[in-house]
Parts: sequence; structure tokens; C-alpha cells
Amino acid sequence: MTGTTTGTTTGTTQPVTVTEDTITDAAVARWATAHDPRTAELLTALVRHLHDFARETRLTEDEWMAAVRWLTATGQISDDKREEFILASDVLGLSMLVVQQNHRLDPAATPATVLGPFHIDGSPELGSGADMSDGLPGEPLWVHGTVTALDGSPVPGAVLDVWQSDADGTYEAQLDVDEARLRAKYTTDDQGRYCLRTIAPLGYAIPTDGPVGELIGRTDISHMRPAHIHFLLAVPGFEPLITHLFREGTEYLDSDVVFGVKRELVVGFTRHEPGPTPDGGHCGTPWLEARYDFVLQPAG
Ligand code: BEZ
Ligand code: FE
Repeated sequence: MTGTTTGTTTGTTQPVTVTEDTITDAAVARWATAHDPRTAELLTALVRHLHDFARETRLTEDEWMAAVRWLTATGQISDDKREEFILASDVLGLSMLVVQQNHRLDPAATPATVLGPFHIDGSPELGSGADMSDGLPGEPLWVHGTVTALDGSPVPGAVLDVWQSDADGTYEAQLDVDEARLRAKYTTDDQGRYCLRTIAPLGYAIPTDGPVGELIGRTDISHMRPAHIHFLLAVPGFEPLITHLFREGTEYLDSDVVFGVKRELVVGFTRHEPGPTPDGGHCGTPWLEARYDFVLQPAG
């Protein structure tokens, strides 16, 4: 390859000699022609940062080809159920940065965290107190509380889309199953109250059998996430909230591999002897209770 090309974007037929010193400006100018202004802004910034990265690290051709092979493998292992690029973004801290700069909520509102790769649309709608674990092994857990606006007024009819992993740390999205498994939607009553029954979540390792896990395996980074349940609340009139509740005292709260933990989302699980449960029912074995009141930020 020679360093001489013929300019085409400008329509000139003059040869243009690209050097190490001029390539960045040339590439920025070319991508600045994107028809949509925001696309032009994003792509020109991307070119500048990528070129800076290559210069700063004195990137070699072997290293660049290794990175290309890693990106290819990340795409090849992904499908409609496995999102290896989301996982990559999560472990690099990029997902959490994007969440935080796009959800600068009132300090009284429930904070947002990462969505993660395992949410499935269209979960079944269950009644208050219904069991989304459907008899899977684990400690029975009731989670209940309210959904309110910032001023404390209840939000009736709010839908909480809930999902979690099983006792082996596996999500439905990682299995080939036909029935919804450990995921459901619950709706708040006229006083903004919700109640769900499930099994206590456990800490688990993010997938280690793909390019992301392989890369983490070459570091001292732990693959583990602390025990948590995911919640998505898309309530008209309020900012959509994607968050988790973490079990207080559980392992990995200080080292979550995807940086998702926030102090406000850590909740105590109280152990009870067999007896009455928050939904007005009865549990014949010891059970756990977690109480959490979600506070939503108004839209806009
Ligand atoms: C999760 O909690 O489901 C998750 C989030 C980010 C990466 C992997 C898993
Ligand atoms: Fe999770």
C-alpha cells in the first residue's frame, strides 16, 4: 500500500498524500459529511478518540488484528438471546456511565442501574403476591412496598417488570425453555402498593464462556455480581426506571463486575419463622421479607 490516494469526497482529482500527521484530520473531515448532524458529531468524535488511542498506545498491527478478532468473536457469539456486546459495555463501565449521565435524577428518586443482557419482553402479568418462581428451589422471598411520585403521592396502576436468576445463577434467557421463568409483571393497587413472591436471589458469575469472560480471565477482575433482582418501571408521566434491588450483606457488593451497585438500592432481607406473609397468606417454612418503596421522577 502506498501513502497516496485520490481524493473522492470533495470531487477533486488531485492526489492526496496521507501521513501519520494528517490522517486524523482527513478522516474527521470525511465523517463530518454525515447527513444527520448528531451522527456527524458522534462519528467525528469517535474517529478522533480512536486515533488518539492508537497513537497513545502505539498500537501494533498484531494488537489491532487481535482486537478485530475479539470483536468478530463477540458478534459471532451474540444472537437474539445472548448480548455479548452489552456485556462488554457493562464490564468496561460504559453502560453505567451512559445510564448515569442520562438519568440525573432527584436525590430522592430511586436511582437507575444497568439493564443487563437478560431482560425478556412480554413477561406474564401476575396478581399481587403471586409467585414468579413457580416452585423453583430457593428460600421463599416476599418483596413489597409502594410506588410513589417525588411528592409522596401514590402511583396506582404502575407496572413493575421483574426478573432474576435462579439458584444456579442462570436466567431464562440463557436456557431453551418455553414458559416464563423467574420473570413477571406486577401492578400497584389504588394506594400504589405492590407485593411479589419469588425466591431469594444469589450472587452469580456473568457468562465466562465467551470473549468477554475470556478477557476478564486475563485480569484480577472478579466475574461475580452480588445477589439482586431486576426491576423495570415504565409508567406514563414518569421517567422510565431500570434498576435492581441488592441483598444487604451479600458478597460482591463492593466489586460488582458491571459497576451496578448503589447504596440506595441495597435492601435488608428479614428472616421470619413460618407464619403470615405480606400478601395476607401463610408460609409453612421460614421465609424472607424485603421492603422497598420506589420513588419515580416526573417525565421531562
Ligand atoms: C445482570 O444482572 O443480569 C447482568 C448485568 C450486566 C451484565 C451481566 C448480567
Ligand atoms: Fe442480573
